[in-house]
Amino acid sequence: MLQPISEQKKKGAFFFQAGNPAKNKINGYVNGINDALKAKEWDKAEQQLKKLVDYIYKKINSKHRDPAIMAWFEQNPLYSVTQKIMRCKALDVVRNHPNARDMFNQLTSNDALASYISSLLSGEIDNSQYRLKNLGGENNQVVYLSVGDEEYVCRFYRVLKQEKQNRESSLDAVHRLSKLDAVVYPDLMVLVKDCDDQLEEQVYLELSEYFSHGTLEDYFNQLHKNNADNKTIQMECLDFTNQFLSFFKEISTQGVWYTDLKPSNVLLNEKNRIRISDTKGFVISDEPLKRINRCGVTANYHDVSCYEDKFLKLPETQQKTLAATLYHLMTNRPPERSQEGSEWQLKFDFDKPVFSGKYGQKLKQLITDLYNVKFKSWDEVMDNSFIQTAKPEAASSSAVTLRGC
Ligand SMILES: Nc1ncnc2c1ncn2[C@@H]1O[C@H](COP(=O)(O)OP(=O)(O)OP(=O)(O)O)[C@@H](O)[C@H]1O
Ligand SMILES: [Mg+2]
Repeated sequence: MLQPISEQKKKGAFFFQAGNPAKNKINGYVNGINDALKAKEWDKAEQQLKKLVDYIYKKINSKHRDPAIMAWFEQNPLYSVTQKIMRCKALDVVRNHPNARDMFNQLTSNDALASYISSLLSGEIDNSQYRLKNLGGENNQVVYLSVGDEEYVCRFYRVLKQEKQNRESSLDAVHRLSKLDAVVYPDLMVLVKDCDDQLEEQVYLELSEYFSHGTLEDYFNQLHKNNADNKTIQMECLDFTNQFLSFFKEISTQGVWYTDLKPSNVLLNEKNRIRISDTKGFVISDEPLKRINRCGVTANYHDVSCYEDKFLKLPETQQKTLAATLYHLMTNRPPERSQEGSEWQLKFDFDKPVFSGKYGQKLKQLITDLYNVKFKSWDEVMDNSFIQTAKPEAASSSAVTLRGC
């Protein structure tokens, strides 16, 4: 909310006398903006803001500049109000668009996501005010959207109606984990396709925070490309090992599992803290088993021993995906697969120089133990003394800054 100009300033020589017409005019606009923001009348807020800006500029350019107006203008960044209006408006346009569902039904492929969003915003927000860009996404298009200074990623999010109604979909898992920093909580979820059949999918349009520092895969790729020495790679890998262990431990206290850990599913904030935004891999289960068709997994990061009949073994999958992820970070590649028919194992090449030295050997052992599902709990992994000792060193060895948009 904007602060109106007060009758009197505590510090400094300037103050408005009661009944000052300039003050009254500015406060009239300010109150108009605040009321419109409260009532979610974005167009009205924009109109009032425009009038306020015009008035202020007139005053700034006048011969007799009023110091009180100048001071107020400096302390109240009107630009941030514009940003706020744009952001709220964009989210509201998407949220309440009457044709959102019809438009979705006309889509023939995921490639259409960017044009779908653009058609939702068009006419409502000037197209010079927003920008859309495809970011990829293998199974599901991920689109970057910026509105003013706000940046989002958008994607379609599919859930089985029955699971949603039973409150055990991946979306419900994200709700359970909403207090966890490591999990990206969406800014907006709009239902764009519903169904009558319980066994069919509902589709949501998701808008979430955009992370300009990229993924963990990008980060390590850059380290390897920059020929970082083995010790740096090992220490960085240990830093993320610690973060993953805390993450798995935390989600386990909420009855949630994550079955699709891999470096490209992990984003980083500006302090290199992990942020999981591909939330399709979250599973709610009181049992250590979940039906395979309800779990998101990636072949190179687990193996056939994770399956039992039509079920995925959750503790096994978590330990194996962590093993494969750490191996990927160390070597800049996921493990290879040795395939026999429909069965496969992961192959780790521990002869690489990055596995030499004290920490290299310890990491090799940890990856092997995780892959062989040796641990009974995350505490047991954390008790591993070398992980603890390495913690402070790792935190200080952050080496690379990565791509902006
Ligand atoms: N919030 C975000 N901020 C920045 N980039 C993102 C974000 N979400 C996704 N991306 C980029 O888009 C890529 C694909 O995203 P995501 O993993 O959600 O899609 P996907 O369809 O599940 O792909 P895959 O099947 O490979 O996991 C990520 O690897 C990352 O590069
Ligand atoms: Mg993904």
